[in-house]
Amino acid sequence: MADNRDHWASRIGFILAAAGSAVGLGNLWKFPYITWHNNGGAFVLVYLVCVLIIGLPIMMAEILIGRRTQKSPVPAFEELGNRGWGFVGLFGVLTGFVILGYYSVIAGWSILSFWQCINWSISGYVAPPEGAFGEFLADAPSQILLSLTFLVATAFIVWRGVSKGIEKAAKFLMPVLFAILAYLVIRVLFFPGIGQTFEFLFRPNFSELPTTGVLEALGHAFFTLSLGMGVMITYGSYMRKSESIVRSAGTVVFLDTIIALLACVIMYTIIFSVPGMEDSISASAIGMLFMTLPRLFYTELSGGVLIGPLFYILVAFAALTSTISLLEVIVSFFIDKLKMKRHSATVLSTCIVIFCSIYSALSLGAVGFLSEFEIFGDKPGVLSTLDHLAANWMLPLGGLFTTIFVGWFVSRKLALEQLRMVDKTGRPTFYFNLWRFFIRFIAPAAIIAVIIAVILGKDFS
Ligand code: PHE
Repeated sequence: MADNRDHWASRIGFILAAAGSAVGLGNLWKFPYITWHNNGGAFVLVYLVCVLIIGLPIMMAEILIGRRTQKSPVPAFEELGNRGWGFVGLFGVLTGFVILGYYSVIAGWSILSFWQCINWSISGYVAPPEGAFGEFLADAPSQILLSLTFLVATAFIVWRGVSKGIEKAAKFLMPVLFAILAYLVIRVLFFPGIGQTFEFLFRPNFSELPTTGVLEALGHAFFTLSLGMGVMITYGSYMRKSESIVRSAGTVVFLDTIIALLACVIMYTIIFSVPGMEDSISASAIGMLFMTLPRLFYTELSGGVLIGPLFYILVAFAALTSTISLLEVIVSFFIDKLKMKRHSATVLSTCIVIFCSIYSALSLGAVGFLSEFEIFGDKPGVLSTLDHLAANWMLPLGGLFTTIFVGWFVSRKLALEQLRMVDKTGRPTFYFNLWRFFIRFIAPAAIIAVIIAVILGKDFS
């Protein structure tokens, strides 16, 4: 089976696809928001430490499992462990459904914002009436149609397969994304708020870091790096033996981190450049990206006519390469485990996801019961509940199982063979031993700390 498995056609294929998965709404929507609320500087520093000492080792561990077995998560865990471990892979598939079920709805908003910006750019800006965004959220047909559009685009790419679909899409979308981002960063460098942005982001003041910020940073590291649900195992399984796991993982983590920081630079500089704006940023994450920014593009910036539409293409492309990876985890499970063909696996899994996403789409005011019920305190409605479930529980738990598996059940020899971190005499390098130490002790301990914090009531979504 491994022989006729589709593979990345080029070395850069894995890196672009995996970076595409990692870079998404987590970078452009969630990170700027939580960094803002945790007062910048010190939080950013803690987040960077989490990414480096927990995110990077786990990413290497996931890729290693996939590359070694050349299988999707369930059979991969079964091969290296035993049948029982397969449930970790299955748990990842379930997490895929949960995340796709709400992520596609938020991703759909970027299509609307893009469309709105195009209209404003062509016919002039018209301030939306008070409460317009709320009305849009509660409009069932728009919500369903937009998320459906997003899911169909995702399915179309996954349907085409690994090298002809996912890799091709990533090779086109990611460079466009980098280019738009670079253009926007260069633009804002000349805005008056740039100094304040750098100070906010890079001058740590630990007395301003809320105590919960440390744990929040760790929780977000999982989400933003697409760890804990088998994405990197799946993508790693399409990697050829000749490629370096360490270099690939390092590049993906670097790209994800730098893009999250640049997203903050762009958004904050615009906000800081408008007097009084800082105080009126709404408390909601959704508000900053989809409500405050579009208005600022057109009322406060020179060149907003171009920046506006470009910015929302950026958001849409980033989200698309993430939803592709989420769907691929599910599809590869149907192919490997249920012996389905790629096309029927894609259709079946997309139908199930559409079914879930309709509930999320209707939970923003359209249907009272779906919008109001609360399982987790303070998280009303299907969409918020799913987000909470995935970010606070499922990804950290999946990550914990993965570190325990690779740290304690996969042999040192096998890990070394895959990571190839040896010196000239063939002995494991210092960094290999360091990686193993982090995977065995530091990462599980930190995740357990997060889970305990969640149990005690801290929310990471
Ligand atoms: N990493 C993606 C983002 O930052 C979200 C994601 C999570 C994708 C888990 C796949 C798996 O938006």
